[in-house]
Amino acid sequence: MTNTDARAAPRTWKLRWAIVALIVVPLLGVAAFIWFGALNFAGDVPHSKPVFSLIKLVRERSVKVQAAGISVPALNSKEALVRGAGNYEAMCVQCHLAPGKSETELSRGLYPSPPNLSRSAVQPAEAFWTIKHGIKASGMPAWGKSMSDADIWNLVALVKQLPSMDPENYNELVSSSTGHAHTGAPGAKAEMGHNEMEAEGHTEMKQGEALPVPSPPPRASS
Ligand code: HEC
Repeated sequence: MTNTDARAAPRTWKLRWAIVALIVVPLLGVAAFIWFGALNFAGDVPHSKPVFSLIKLVRERSVKVQAAGISVPALNSKEALVRGAGNYEAMCVQCHLAPGKSETELSRGLYPSPPNLSRSAVQPAEAFWTIKHGIKASGMPAWGKSMSDADIWNLVALVKQLPSMDPENYNELVSSSTGHAHTGAPGAKAEMGHNEMEAEGHTEMKQGEALPVPSPPPRASS
Protein backbone atom coordinates (compact mmCIF):
# COMPACT_ATOMS: atom_id res chain seq x y z
CA MET A 1 0.00 0.00 0.00
CA THR A 2 1.39 3.36 -0.92
CA ASN A 3 1.06 6.43 1.23
CA THR A 4 -1.69 7.92 -0.94
CA ASP A 5 -3.85 4.74 -0.69
CA ALA A 6 -3.67 4.88 3.09
CA ARG A 7 -5.05 8.42 3.04
CA ALA A 8 -7.74 7.67 0.41
CA ALA A 9 -9.41 4.86 2.39
CA PRO A 10 -10.69 6.97 5.34
CA ARG A 11 -11.76 9.64 2.86
CA THR A 12 -14.05 7.12 1.07
CA TRP A 13 -15.59 6.15 4.40
CA LYS A 14 -16.18 9.78 5.26
CA LEU A 15 -17.97 10.21 1.95
CA ARG A 16 -20.18 7.17 2.64
CA TRP A 17 -21.14 8.46 6.08
CA ALA A 18 -21.88 11.86 4.58
CA ILE A 19 -24.24 10.26 2.05
CA VAL A 20 -25.99 8.31 4.82
CA ALA A 21 -26.34 11.44 6.96
CA LEU A 22 -27.49 13.77 4.21
CA ILE A 23 -29.67 11.52 2.05
CA VAL A 24 -30.61 8.21 3.69
CA VAL A 25 -31.48 9.56 7.16
CA PRO A 26 -33.76 12.37 5.86
CA LEU A 27 -35.47 9.92 3.47
CA LEU A 28 -36.10 7.49 6.34
CA GLY A 29 -37.44 10.40 8.37
CA VAL A 30 -39.88 11.35 5.61
CA ALA A 31 -40.95 7.71 5.19
CA ALA A 32 -41.58 7.40 8.96
CA PHE A 33 -43.51 10.70 8.94
CA ILE A 34 -45.82 9.36 6.22
CA TRP A 35 -46.08 5.81 7.60
CA PHE A 36 -47.02 6.92 11.11
CA GLY A 37 -49.65 9.36 9.77
CA ALA A 38 -47.96 12.27 11.51
CA LEU A 39 -49.65 14.93 9.34
CA ASN A 40 -53.21 15.46 10.50
CA PHE A 41 -55.42 15.82 7.41
CA ALA A 42 -58.50 16.86 9.43
CA GLY A 43 -60.24 19.88 7.93
CA ASP A 44 -60.87 21.28 11.40
CA VAL A 45 -57.20 21.34 12.45
CA PRO A 46 -55.48 24.32 10.80
CA HIS A 47 -51.97 24.15 9.34
CA SER A 48 -49.20 25.65 11.45
CA LYS A 49 -48.50 29.31 10.62
CA PRO A 50 -45.32 28.68 8.58
CA VAL A 51 -46.96 25.88 6.55
CA PHE A 52 -50.07 28.03 5.92
CA SER A 53 -47.95 31.01 4.83
CA LEU A 54 -45.89 28.82 2.51
CA ILE A 55 -48.98 27.29 0.83
CA LYS A 56 -50.53 30.77 0.51
CA LEU A 57 -47.39 32.17 -1.09
CA VAL A 58 -47.12 29.27 -3.55
CA ARG A 59 -50.84 29.58 -4.51
CA GLU A 60 -50.69 33.38 -4.89
CA ARG A 61 -47.57 33.26 -7.07
CA SER A 62 -49.05 30.46 -9.18
CA VAL A 63 -52.32 32.31 -9.81
CA LYS A 64 -50.48 35.57 -10.56
CA VAL A 65 -48.20 33.93 -13.11
CA GLN A 66 -50.99 31.88 -14.74
CA ALA A 67 -53.27 34.93 -15.01
CA ALA A 68 -50.58 37.27 -16.35
CA GLY A 69 -51.54 36.92 -20.02
CA ILE A 70 -55.31 37.33 -19.57
CA SER A 71 -56.74 40.56 -20.97
CA VAL A 72 -59.72 41.89 -19.06
CA PRO A 73 -62.79 42.98 -21.06
CA ALA A 74 -65.04 45.92 -20.05
CA LEU A 75 -66.88 44.83 -16.93
CA ASN A 76 -69.23 47.67 -16.22
CA SER A 77 -72.39 46.82 -18.14
CA LYS A 78 -75.55 46.44 -16.08
CA GLU A 79 -76.42 43.29 -18.03
CA ALA A 80 -73.15 41.58 -17.02
CA LEU A 81 -73.80 42.46 -13.37
CA VAL A 82 -77.37 41.14 -13.49
CA ARG A 83 -76.39 37.85 -15.14
CA GLY A 84 -73.44 37.53 -12.79
CA ALA A 85 -75.70 38.10 -9.77
CA GLY A 86 -78.17 35.39 -10.78
CA ASN A 87 -75.41 32.81 -11.17
CA TYR A 88 -73.53 33.99 -8.08
CA GLU A 89 -76.64 33.60 -5.93
CA ALA A 90 -77.19 30.10 -7.34
CA MET A 91 -73.62 28.76 -7.28
CA CYS A 92 -71.29 30.81 -5.08
CA VAL A 93 -73.13 32.47 -2.22
CA GLN A 94 -73.14 29.40 0.06
CA CYS A 95 -69.36 29.51 0.23
CA HIS A 96 -68.47 33.15 -0.49
CA LEU A 97 -71.47 34.96 1.07
CA ALA A 98 -72.80 38.32 -0.16
CA PRO A 99 -73.74 41.71 1.35
CA GLY A 100 -76.04 41.12 4.31
CA LYS A 101 -75.53 37.31 4.33
CA SER A 102 -74.03 35.60 7.33
CA GLU A 103 -71.94 32.43 7.52
CA THR A 104 -73.37 29.16 6.24
CA GLU A 105 -72.58 25.60 7.28
CA LEU A 106 -70.44 25.24 4.13
CA SER A 107 -68.49 28.47 4.58
CA ARG A 108 -67.86 27.66 8.25
CA GLY A 109 -66.82 24.06 7.68
CA LEU A 110 -64.42 24.42 4.75
CA TYR A 111 -60.65 24.64 5.17
CA PRO A 112 -59.07 26.64 3.64
CA SER A 113 -61.99 28.98 4.35
CA PRO A 114 -63.61 30.53 1.29
CA PRO A 115 -62.95 34.28 1.40
CA ASN A 116 -66.02 36.42 2.07
CA LEU A 117 -66.19 38.10 -1.35
CA SER A 118 -68.48 40.85 -0.07
CA ARG A 119 -65.49 42.07 1.95
CA SER A 120 -62.39 41.24 -0.07
CA ALA A 121 -61.32 43.01 -3.24
CA VAL A 122 -60.29 40.81 -6.17
CA GLN A 123 -57.98 41.40 -9.13
CA PRO A 124 -60.15 40.71 -12.24
CA ALA A 125 -57.72 38.58 -14.33
CA GLU A 126 -56.80 36.49 -11.28
CA ALA A 127 -60.45 36.10 -10.29
CA PHE A 128 -61.29 34.97 -13.85
CA TRP A 129 -58.48 32.39 -13.82
CA THR A 130 -59.46 31.12 -10.36
CA ILE A 131 -63.16 30.78 -11.24
CA LYS A 132 -62.37 29.03 -14.52
CA HIS A 133 -59.73 26.59 -13.21
CA GLY A 134 -60.54 26.25 -9.50
CA ILE A 135 -57.97 25.74 -6.73
CA LYS A 136 -56.45 22.32 -6.05
CA ALA A 137 -57.14 20.68 -2.68
CA SER A 138 -59.64 23.33 -1.61
CA GLY A 139 -63.40 23.60 -2.01
CA MET A 140 -63.07 25.93 -5.01
CA PRO A 141 -64.41 24.12 -8.12
CA ALA A 142 -63.22 24.64 -11.72
CA TRP A 143 -66.33 26.31 -13.18
CA GLY A 144 -64.75 26.39 -16.64
CA LYS A 145 -65.74 22.75 -17.02
CA SER A 146 -69.38 23.77 -17.35
CA MET A 147 -69.45 27.52 -18.02
CA SER A 148 -68.47 29.70 -20.97
CA ASP A 149 -65.78 32.38 -20.59
CA ALA A 150 -68.41 35.09 -21.18
CA ASP A 151 -70.44 33.89 -18.21
CA ILE A 152 -67.32 33.70 -16.04
CA TRP A 153 -66.55 37.34 -16.91
CA ASN A 154 -70.10 38.23 -15.79
CA LEU A 155 -69.29 36.65 -12.44
CA VAL A 156 -66.02 38.61 -12.27
CA ALA A 157 -67.98 41.83 -12.97
CA LEU A 158 -70.26 41.03 -10.03
CA VAL A 159 -67.50 39.90 -7.65
CA LYS A 160 -65.51 43.09 -8.39
CA GLN A 161 -68.47 45.25 -7.31
CA LEU A 162 -69.61 43.16 -4.33
CA PRO A 163 -67.60 44.96 -1.60
CA SER A 164 -69.18 48.28 -2.57
CA MET A 165 -72.76 46.94 -2.61
CA ASP A 166 -75.30 47.00 0.17
CA PRO A 167 -77.80 44.16 0.65
CA GLU A 168 -80.52 46.10 -1.26
CA ASN A 169 -78.28 46.60 -4.35
CA TYR A 170 -77.36 42.93 -4.32
CA ASN A 171 -80.90 41.61 -3.84
CA GLU A 172 -82.20 43.94 -6.55
CA LEU A 173 -79.67 42.57 -9.07
CA VAL A 174 -80.52 38.99 -8.11
CA SER A 175 -84.26 39.50 -8.40
CA SER A 176 -83.97 41.21 -11.79
CA SER A 177 -81.86 38.29 -13.09
CA THR A 178 -83.08 35.02 -14.57
CA GLY A 179 -81.35 33.12 -11.75
CA HIS A 180 -79.08 30.21 -12.55
CA ALA A 181 -78.63 30.71 -16.29
CA HIS A 182 -75.44 30.25 -18.25
CA THR A 183 -74.14 28.67 -21.38
CA GLY A 184 -71.79 25.71 -21.20
CA ALA A 185 -68.08 25.55 -21.85
CA PRO A 186 -67.30 24.69 -25.49
CA GLY A 187 -67.23 20.91 -25.84
CA ALA A 188 -68.51 20.27 -22.31
CA LYS A 189 -70.96 17.39 -22.01
CA ALA A 190 -73.33 18.90 -19.45
CA GLU A 191 -73.93 22.20 -21.18
CA MET A 192 -77.06 22.98 -19.30
CA GLY A 193 -77.94 26.17 -17.57
CA HIS A 194 -81.10 26.35 -15.54
CA ASN A 195 -83.14 27.71 -18.44
CA GLU A 196 -82.14 24.95 -20.82
CA MET A 197 -82.89 22.39 -18.12
CA GLU A 198 -86.40 23.72 -17.75
CA ALA A 199 -86.87 23.66 -21.51
CA GLU A 200 -85.97 19.97 -21.38
CA GLY A 201 -88.46 19.31 -18.65
CA HIS A 202 -86.06 19.09 -15.71
CA THR A 203 -87.15 20.85 -12.59
CA GLU A 204 -85.12 22.36 -9.82
CA MET A 205 -86.09 22.96 -6.24
CA LYS A 206 -86.95 26.55 -5.46
CA GLN A 207 -85.34 28.09 -2.38
CA GLY A 208 -87.25 27.20 0.77
CA GLU A 209 -89.19 24.44 -0.92
CA ALA A 210 -89.49 21.36 1.27
CA LEU A 211 -88.34 17.91 0.20
CA PRO A 212 -91.19 15.43 -0.08
CA VAL A 213 -91.21 13.56 3.21
CA PRO A 214 -92.35 9.95 3.14
CA SER A 215 -95.28 9.38 5.47
CA PRO A 216 -94.29 7.55 8.65
CA PRO A 217 -95.32 3.92 9.05
CA PRO A 218 -98.59 3.52 10.96
CA ARG A 219 -97.97 3.19 14.68
CA ALA A 220 -99.06 0.04 16.36
CA SER A 221 -101.90 1.00 18.71
CA SER A 222 -101.41 -0.28 22.18
C1 HEC B 1 -67.83 24.77 -2.03
C2 HEC B 1 -67.34 26.11 -1.79
C3 HEC B 1 -67.08 27.04 -2.93
C4 HEC B 1 -67.93 27.38 -3.95
C5 HEC B 1 -69.33 26.83 -4.22
C6 HEC B 1 -67.26 28.42 -4.69
N1 HEC B 1 -66.03 28.68 -4.16
FE1 HEC B 1 -64.73 30.13 -4.76
N2 HEC B 1 -63.37 29.53 -3.38
C7 HEC B 1 -63.61 28.55 -2.42
C8 HEC B 1 -62.43 28.42 -1.59
C9 HEC B 1 -62.27 27.46 -0.43
C10 HEC B 1 -61.50 29.38 -2.05
C11 HEC B 1 -60.12 29.67 -1.47
C12 HEC B 1 -59.13 28.62 -1.88
C13 HEC B 1 -57.79 28.80 -1.19
O1 HEC B 1 -57.64 29.70 -0.36
O2 HEC B 1 -56.89 28.02 -1.50
C14 HEC B 1 -62.13 30.06 -3.18
C15 HEC B 1 -61.54 31.08 -3.91
C16 HEC B 1 -62.21 31.87 -4.81
C17 HEC B 1 -61.69 33.08 -5.41
C18 HEC B 1 -60.31 33.68 -5.16
C19 HEC B 1 -60.46 34.75 -4.11
C20 HEC B 1 -59.16 35.34 -3.65
O3 HEC B 1 -59.22 36.39 -2.99
O4 HEC B 1 -58.10 34.77 -3.91
C21 HEC B 1 -62.67 33.58 -6.23
C22 HEC B 1 -62.60 34.87 -7.06
C23 HEC B 1 -63.80 32.69 -6.15
N3 HEC B 1 -63.48 31.65 -5.28
C24 HEC B 1 -64.99 32.88 -6.83
C25 HEC B 1 -66.03 31.95 -6.83
C26 HEC B 1 -67.22 32.08 -7.65
C27 HEC B 1 -67.52 33.23 -8.60
C28 HEC B 1 -68.00 30.98 -7.38
C29 HEC B 1 -69.31 30.59 -8.01
C30 HEC B 1 -69.34 30.40 -9.43
C31 HEC B 1 -67.30 30.20 -6.36
N4 HEC B 1 -66.12 30.81 -6.07
C32 HEC B 1 -67.81 29.06 -5.79
C33 HEC B 1 -64.76 27.80 -2.28
C34 HEC B 1 -65.88 27.86 -3.09
